[in-house]
Amino acid sequence: MNEVIRNITRRRTIRRFKSEQVGEDALQAILQAGLYAPSAGGRQGVLFAVSRDNEVNERLGRAKRAHFHIQASSVRGNISKEQPSILDDPSIMNAFYDAPTVITLFGPKQFLYAVNDCSVAAENMMLAAASLGIGSCYIGSAWDSFDDTFGRGILAKWGVRTDYYAVAHVVLGYPSDDAHPTAKPRAEGRILWPREDHG
Ligand SMILES: Cc1cc2nc3c(=O)[nH]c(=O)nc-3n(C[C@H](O)[C@H](O)[C@H](O)COP(=O)(O)O)c2cc1C
Repeated sequence: MNEVIRNITRRRTIRRFKSEQVGEDALQAILQAGLYAPSAGGRQGVLFAVSRDNEVNERLGRAKRAHFHIQASSVRGNISKEQPSILDDPSIMNAFYDAPTVITLFGPKQFLYAVNDCSVAAENMMLAAASLGIGSCYIGSAWDSFDDTFGRGILAKWGVRTDYYAVAHVVLGYPSDDAHPTAKPRAEGRILWPREDHG
């Protein structure tokens, strides 16, 4: 296995963070990885808003958590014993898990591939982060973090164009636990590999 593939298989979602801020060089490298992600039509439409303001991150994370209804969630079961999610532990009140850096990815509202573009950029950033010893968690919906007066004020303050919407967040920080989370076994039967004989 080469280093890239080892990094891909070793990356795990981290939800327990140290309060120490992510280093500037590392953050720049992570953002660079996002900028170099593929994009539909080469359009490079994703906007990345970086917030290292603890108060803003906490308020947005709490707003997102308040929107989340565990009973209504389509996701079931234990997400992670080692790094509990808001589904595993309802007492977690900040959906960003107190991560010191929150990157919000925005895409154009009227664009079919906005979610795809943000997702591939997010994965690039999370892999770059993992390679630098920085933990990350992908938050797959983000509009709800901004769906109140405070959130709308933040969008205006950040200068987000009104024809863009928040697709996802990537939260970043140094992992607080020494033990790296273990991957769940890979679900079987997902690779369909038809026989290649044409006879
Ligand atoms: C589309 C998508 C949405 C996700 N949304 C959240 C989320 O809102 N909150 C969270 O804690 N984790 C979220 N995750 C992270 C998953 O829970 C995590 O990737 C999964 O449990 C597998 O763990 P691993 O990343 O360590 O392999 C999301 C992942 C994906 C791909």
